Amino acid sequence: MTSAPRRIVLDCDPGHDDAVAMMLALGNPAIEVLAITTVGGNQTIDKVTRNAQSVLAMCRREDVPVYQGASRPLVHRVESAPEIHGESGLDGVELPEPGAALRDGHAAVAIVDAVMGAKPGEVTLVGTGPLTNLALAVRLEPRIVERVAEVVVMGGGFPEANWTAAAEFNIWVDPEAAAIVFDEPWPVTMVGLDLTHQALATAEVEARVGAIGSPLSDFFVGLMGFFRKAYKESQAFDDPPVHDPCTIAYLIDPTIVQTRRAPIAVELRGEHTVGMTVVDLRGPAPEGTHTQVATTLDADRFWGLVEDAIRALSDAE
Ligand code: RIB
Ligand code: CA
Repeated sequence: MTSAPRRIVLDCDPGHDDAVAMMLALGNPAIEVLAITTVGGNQTIDKVTRNAQSVLAMCRREDVPVYQGASRPLVHRVESAPEIHGESGLDGVELPEPGAALRDGHAAVAIVDAVMGAKPGEVTLVGTGPLTNLALAVRLEPRIVERVAEVVVMGGGFPEANWTAAAEFNIWVDPEAAAIVFDEPWPVTMVGLDLTHQALATAEVEARVGAIGSPLSDFFVGLMGFFRKAYKESQAFDDPPVHDPCTIAYLIDPTIVQTRRAPIAVELRGEHTVGMTVVDLRGPAPEGTHTQVATTLDADRFWGLVEDAIRALSDAE
């Protein structure tokens, strides 16, 4: 008897790796995507929202509702990442016109409605962009804290960083929102750069997925082609780290990701360290620690899940 799928709301900023997270979530039966919510991050809110709709069209899953969220962080100025994701936010591919209409209402309200409309412990929140919408949701309706099954965040590092010497992009863009999300007493799993830098899209991975030979697998290869060049030029990676789908793989099969319970604090005031995730690894975690960090990835099994998901979505075409 297979267990019921994990019901998730995916809050994201597509973004090449967000797009792969969407494909993995939509293509694996262990996940039910209740909604996609968007947040300004890799590109502006209008671009990432259109991109989310285009990825749903590519996956032929325009039944999944999309809600647009915050266009800017709670306090910080807006910061995008065209050097990594291009002007569109998904450079490297032809984007299909969004098919389904955007749903009315703010993403934060949609997150609250999804959690409060389900039984306690039924809905998991996944954040793969700046955490502005999740922070707004918990301020709007504090009761979601006791009802959410888990919050899984792609963000942070200990000590890996990519946007400054101390901070990872998602946390850097909105550190106040990240502090709110990490501080609330709900179960939080931080899938940071120390884990996601193990999820490298090698030429062999591209070839395996490309061999599926569908419009969606070609779309993946096109995305990875741009991502590879961008990461080589901006961060000297030979193969690009595909961060966001690691959160989904962890939910599909927790044995693919090793974790360690540890207190996490977000630096808000350091002259050189704003946005740093301060993970306290001194000895065993204190009683009641509600946060854990992902440490080690089984990369072969991870890429196997991605390949299987893209094949499943392709077969459904
Ligand atoms: O630092 C990597 C993270 O920032 C990923 O989620 C990427 O999509 C960007 O949002
Ligand atoms: Ca992202």
